[in-house]
Amino acid sequence: MTRPGAAVLPLLLLLATPAAALEPAEVVDAFEGAGGRITTFRPSHAKGVCAAGEFTPTAEGTRLSVAPTFAGAPVPATIRFGVAGATPRASDVARTTRSLAIRFETAAGDQWDMANISAPIFGARTPEMLVAGLRARRAGPNGQPADPAAVAAFVAANPQSTRQAAWLGQRMPPASFATTPYWGVNAFRFQGRDGEVRHARWVFEPAAGEQRLTEADAARLGPDFLAAELRARVAQAPVAFDMVLQFPAAGDDVTDPTVAWPADRPRATVGRLVVTAVEPGPGGACDPISFLQLDQEPGVAFSDDPVLQGRAAPYAEALSRRTTPR
Ligand code: HEM
Repeated sequence: MTRPGAAVLPLLLLLATPAAALEPAEVVDAFEGAGGRITTFRPSHAKGVCAAGEFTPTAEGTRLSVAPTFAGAPVPATIRFGVAGATPRASDVARTTRSLAIRFETAAGDQWDMANISAPIFGARTPEMLVAGLRARRAGPNGQPADPAAVAAFVAANPQSTRQAAWLGQRMPPASFATTPYWGVNAFRFQGRDGEVRHARWVFEPAAGEQRLTEADAARLGPDFLAAELRARVAQAPVAFDMVLQFPAAGDDVTDPTVAWPADRPRATVGRLVVTAVEPGPGGACDPISFLQLDQEPGVAFSDDPVLQGRAAPYAEALSRRTTPR
C-alpha cells in the first residue's frame, strides 16, 4: 500500500492489468464516448465533495490483516463522497449509486485507496462487459442520445449487466451521504496476523443507520442537497461508518461482482471511519487525486475478480486526462 514513486507507477499499473486486457486508454475512451469528453471532472462519479477524517482499526481488524492501516493506531483519511454519472450536475435524487472513496495514509507514509458504492453489486462481470456497455451507450452526433437498438442488443446479450440497476430501482435513494452503506463490491484476500489468507468483501455501515428518501422528500429536496446536508450534519457531530468484512462460504463466487453473497455469511467489524470535516465548496484535497486501488500489499491483496484487476490503470488514465490540459 505504500504509494510508488512516479517512475514505478506505470510498471505497477501494467502488472495490475492482465496481458490480454483492454488498454486503459480504450476504457477511458469508452467512458468519454458515453458521457462526454473529460475536461476537469471524473468520468464516473463526477459530482462529489471532499471530506476528511480518521480510521481506527478494531482488535479484530488488526488480527485479520497485516496491512499498515490495521496496525492499531488511528490513520488519517482523505475522503470523497460522490454521485454516480459523468456530470457534476447529476441528480441527488436519482436511483443511482452514491459513493465513498477513501485514501488512508499512515504516519509512516503508507497509502491505501478504495472507492466504494451504495450498492452491493456492480453492473459488469468483466472490464470487457463494462466497455461494451459504454460503447453501446455511445452518444450520437451533436449530443443525440445513444441508439436504443444498440443498448437493447447489449442488454439482451449481457443480462448480468442489469442486476445493479434492478437493485437500485427497488429502493429509494439515500436520505444523506451519512445514511447508506457503501460496499467495496470486489472480493480481496486478507492476510491475517495468524498467517491465514481469507477472501472477504467489505461494507462501510453508517452509524446513523440506513435512511432513504420518501417520494415527498425527493420532491422537496430537489437534485442538489447531499453536500450541504453532509456539511450541516458534520458541523453538528462527526459522521461514522463501521467497516465490516463478509466472508464467503463454499460455492460463493469470489470473482463475480454482479452477485452479492447471502446475508447470513460470517462477518467481522474491522474498524471505524469517522468523518470530521467537509469542504465548504468545490475543490479540496480529494480533487486532484484518483483513488487508485493498487494491488501492492499482502495484508489486503487482490482476488481473481477481473473487474477489480481492471480498475487501477483506467483510473490513472482518467486522472491524467482531467488534470492535464488537452
Ligand atoms: C473494470 C471496472 C471499472 C472501471 C474500468 C472503472 C473506471 C473508473 C474510472 C475511469 C473512474 C474515474 C477515476 C478518476 O478520474 O479518478 C472511476 C471512478 C469511480 N469508480 Fe470505477 N471503474 C470500475 C469498477 C468499479 C467498481 C466495481 C466500483 C464499485 C466499488 C467502482 C466505483 C467507482 C467510484 C466510487 C468512483 C469515484 C471515485 C472518486 O470519488 O474519486 N468502479 N471508475
